[in-house]
Amino acid sequence: MSFPSINPTTTAAWKALEAHAASAKNLHLRDLLQQDAARFEKMHIRLDDLLLFDYAKHRVTEETLGLLEDLFHACQVPEALQAQVTGEKINQTEGRAVLHTALRDPRTEPLRLDGEDVRALAKGERDRMFAFAEAIRDGRKKSFTGKKFTHVVNIGIGGSDLGPRMAVEALKPFSDRSIHMHFVANVDGADLHECLQKVDPERTLFIVASKTFTTQETMANAEAARTWLVQKLGDPNCTQKHFVALSTHAEKVQAFGISAKNTFGFWDWVGGRYSVWSAIGMPLCIAIGAEGFQQFLDGAHAIDQHTATQPFRKNIPQIMAALGIWYRNFLGATSHAVLPYDQYLHRFPAYLQQADMESNGKYVDRHGERVTYPTGPVVWGEPGTNGQHAFYQLIHQGTEVIPSDFIASVLPQHPLHAHHAMLLSNFLAQTEALAIGRPKAATAYKVFEGNRPTSTLLFDALTPYALGSLIALYEHKIFYQGVVWNIYSYDQWGVELGKEMANAILPELEGDGALGLHDPSTSALLQHVRNLWV
Ligand code: F6P
Repeated sequence: MSFPSINPTTTAAWKALEAHAASAKNLHLRDLLQQDAARFEKMHIRLDDLLLFDYAKHRVTEETLGLLEDLFHACQVPEALQAQVTGEKINQTEGRAVLHTALRDPRTEPLRLDGEDVRALAKGERDRMFAFAEAIRDGRKKSFTGKKFTHVVNIGIGGSDLGPRMAVEALKPFSDRSIHMHFVANVDGADLHECLQKVDPERTLFIVASKTFTTQETMANAEAARTWLVQKLGDPNCTQKHFVALSTHAEKVQAFGISAKNTFGFWDWVGGRYSVWSAIGMPLCIAIGAEGFQQFLDGAHAIDQHTATQPFRKNIPQIMAALGIWYRNFLGATSHAVLPYDQYLHRFPAYLQQADMESNGKYVDRHGERVTYPTGPVVWGEPGTNGQHAFYQLIHQGTEVIPSDFIASVLPQHPLHAHHAMLLSNFLAQTEALAIGRPKAATAYKVFEGNRPTSTLLFDALTPYALGSLIALYEHKIFYQGVVWNIYSYDQWGVELGKEMANAILPELEGDGALGLHDPSTSALLQHVRNLWV
């Protein structure tokens, strides 16, 4: 393994940051911004034709940034990225490489993993997905009754839902509006039931998306959807035309009854929450077409190149990661808000919650020991301006500091320009108000202390390329933070216990025998349900 397990608190940089934080607590953004006219110049990164990233509104000085850079070097962050992208098995608790970057890498020189060229594998499946998506879009691939598909239902959960669902919403302006996209995730039957009210069985394609093809929610929904379709079309053979699968487990897909021709694969080196670049992106590919999907991949690849080559102060994911560590570990922040001023990005915070919290919500380090410092924060958010009329009160005047990412585009994807001017004026006003505040007012209630830190990610326009870039920025940020926190960002053991216990409870809930051994609260609740079900 080419990057070692390092307890960050033992590094000189961490200790220096602790000492520095004591004095930095007195910094105020009002002073930092007003005392240095060149601050923006020094603390922004422009990626031409894509994005302006402003980090001037953060409670940092040149010294803070220098120490954070030292910490990154002490924790071997660049080396860790190198280990990841070259296919080392850095997901050690699962014995897997982490190569979602290969899915968007246009290079053709082989990248070997266990004797196979992952770039070639990725291209092969991508070409199949492109061909299938285009045939659905132009109607060459027809339904069982010979009709064009006009509805697509993606059945999947977690990484097999959140990425494609978010991206399909985000890129609606680039999509074929004659094909209606639906997403069913929850094992709550209401989700599938409501979806089936809206679709025409003769024109509906079901995509069963599951890396493992064992996930309870997805398998239950897929089976119920199949039963519904067969009942509606009156012939069990109809499923051959109406069901496709996206999975790493070809045998399980076959056992379910979906043919190899209708199965689009990926591999165990693609983590669920990093899989939107693989066949899991099928709904997006159908929505925006192969060309649009290629641009989405290209945007992500551009960020892979950016972060692998740029120095710390010009490296957006590294700065994002470093700032998050500064607030979390040295200034006591417990949460991080993500606030897209873009209705098309309304699912982005939900997507990011899985990407970030399933990756870095961990208290055991890479030595297998309990960490002595905070790791991943709570990530949350809603689109602006809606949030302004809901929870911004707490961001402005609450007792905690909540570092926030403000995301918008200069050019809108709709014709209502006056609306867009209002949207952007709110966007700009909020970060200014949060930083500067209002120190004097008639009553204490109207005083705004300010000093609330924000990053601004201002895209030129939310294109497929830009969305790919946006996601990749956060993916790298998450990994860098995991490296500094010395945790395994690519496993998710914390979701297993609840799954196992639900499997044990299910037969007890449905049966009438003696209950198993549970705590008194759970036993009473279980019994209460059984009493009402009889
Ligand atoms: O809930 C945990 C999880 O394993 C996620 O990591 C994953 O994205 C999701 O379940 C769905 O898994 P699958 O794609 O295998 O159905």
